[in-house]
Amino acid sequence: MKIFDFLNKKQSKIKITVVTCYDYTSAQIVNSSSIDAILVGDSLAMVMHGNSTTLAATESLMALHTAAVAKGAPDKFIIGDLPFLSYRKDLSSNVTAAGELMRAGAHSVKLEGARGNLDLISHLVDSGIPVMGHLGLTPQSINQLGGFKVQGRTNKEQDQLFSDSLALEKAGCFSLVLECVPSKLAHKISQELKIPTIGIGAGPDTDGQVLVWQDLLGMNPKFNPKFLKKYMQGFELMQSALNSYHSEVTAGQFPTFKESYE
Ligand code: KIV
Repeated sequence: MKIFDFLNKKQSKIKITVVTCYDYTSAQIVNSSSIDAILVGDSLAMVMHGNSTTLAATESLMALHTAAVAKGAPDKFIIGDLPFLSYRKDLSSNVTAAGELMRAGAHSVKLEGARGNLDLISHLVDSGIPVMGHLGLTPQSINQLGGFKVQGRTNKEQDQLFSDSLALEKAGCFSLVLECVPSKLAHKISQELKIPTIGIGAGPDTDGQVLVWQDLLGMNPKFNPKFLKKYMQGFELMQSALNSYHSEVTAGQFPTFKESYE
């Protein structure tokens, strides 16, 4: 998948699949799969580093994980997430932050929100850096939003999200993540925009979907939001493998001569 395939797929009505990924070994698995693109999301601050929000992600942390993913998935289109505040400084610092992710191996960057970002987006695009937008539940603004909850419930909020999405397209974004917004609104935005929308908790009518690696593989039995479908019970499967290993070692069944050197 290359940058123009995002538009091509939307025009051909072929859904785009994106998954987050944060490390080399997992990236090798994605690379061998049919998934279209990888997002090295700042959600790694939560699912890889145990924080309760994404605010702890830094530019150097994002670059470190992006580099590992780029080595493991050389055939996939990689989107690097610009972390909290990294793109809200002066133009030079904002460009440096985006450049760091591109140099680490990303093919594009993602940033949250429209207001205050439009000039930067145009500048990055003109500088050779494709930009993915992100509207709806924007976790970097969690302290403004008052929690991880569905956005765009009122008419006023819906109008704002609609006009923000048009503004992001106009500024040059090649695609737009819509997170936790009502399906009807996501449908309307997806119909109106020429660029593809990538939904998470945004219903079936976006042009593609993105899920977090740990969520889609069922790695956290306590995380069960309505929008999530778990394609594997990863927690239970891994727990069971670990318990089998423990039992066999303690019972003297592993290693055997088969797993030993003469
Ligand atoms: O960081 C992330 O994983 C994201 C997705 C949820 C879209 O931004």
